[in-house]
Amino acid sequence: MNEHTDHDTLLHVISSGNPELDSRLGGGLPIGSLILVEGASGSGKSVLSQQILWGALQDSFRVMLFTSENTVKSLVSQMESIDLDILDHLLLRNLRVYPIELSHLGEHAMTLLVQAFKSEPDRDVIVVDSFTSATTHGANDAQILGFFEECKRLCGRGTTIILTLHTDALESDLLNPIRSMCDAHLKLFSDQDGQRLVKTLQVAKIRGAASATGAIVGFEVEPGWGMRVIPISKARG
Ligand SMILES: Nc1ncnc2c1ncn2[C@@H]1O[C@H](COP(=O)(O)OP(=O)(O)OP(=O)(O)O)[C@@H](O)[C@H]1O
Ligand SMILES: [Mg+2]
Repeated sequence: MNEHTDHDTLLHVISSGNPELDSRLGGGLPIGSLILVEGASGSGKSVLSQQILWGALQDSFRVMLFTSENTVKSLVSQMESIDLDILDHLLLRNLRVYPIELSHLGEHAMTLLVQAFKSEPDRDVIVVDSFTSATTHGANDAQILGFFEECKRLCGRGTTIILTLHTDALESDLLNPIRSMCDAHLKLFSDQDGQRLVKTLQVAKIRGAASATGAIVGFEVEPGWGMRVIPISKARG
């Protein structure tokens, strides 16, 4: 048991820090969940995971982010651009950021990721954005499933793990068992509707929050503000 076990008795969910979004998620994401965030390029996987990790930091959870897209510096400015300030959390080490090149690690990517997860057992929340390149460079199906099983074990001990994945990264034969293994499955879409780009979040599943499952949420990413939930009718134009 670590000193953060208090959270378990006080908070049962990770809040995104965005009340509108939380309410669509049935209150937030249950602690100890394995969460899959799936979507095409530009659909909002990074923005959503940044919003959730920021929300977790506001509630004093300890967060570890593996990013294949950013350096620490570019992450700070990207998050700043959507009004998510993480500098203090970095300095206080509540947030640890590890830029990674999963594609360079080839078939070892997943073993090394699991080792890295276990090397800091005090982390409450682990985010990998994105997990896509780990799946596309030399790893076989058994290794990928084995990785998800390892994640499940860590979640069973109370860690919350968020993995973002490009929709086309895996064949459905592999994706389906992975989806069912996950406790929460959030699907992001970005569709062209005439002149407008319409973004939606589909709550495919949140275990323990039946009311949220199936919800479809329209949202915009507004410079200087971040994720803004908008009525679906408005999102559809
Ligand atoms: N500061 C910002 N101001 C305005 N729009 C932004 C800002 N930051 C991100 N966006 C927009 O939010 C949308 C989602 O971007 P995001 O990077 O989260 O997509 P993604 O799903 O992670 O894509 P990829 O698979 O390429 O990593 C994009 O349309 C992006 O242009
Ligand atoms: Mg991204």
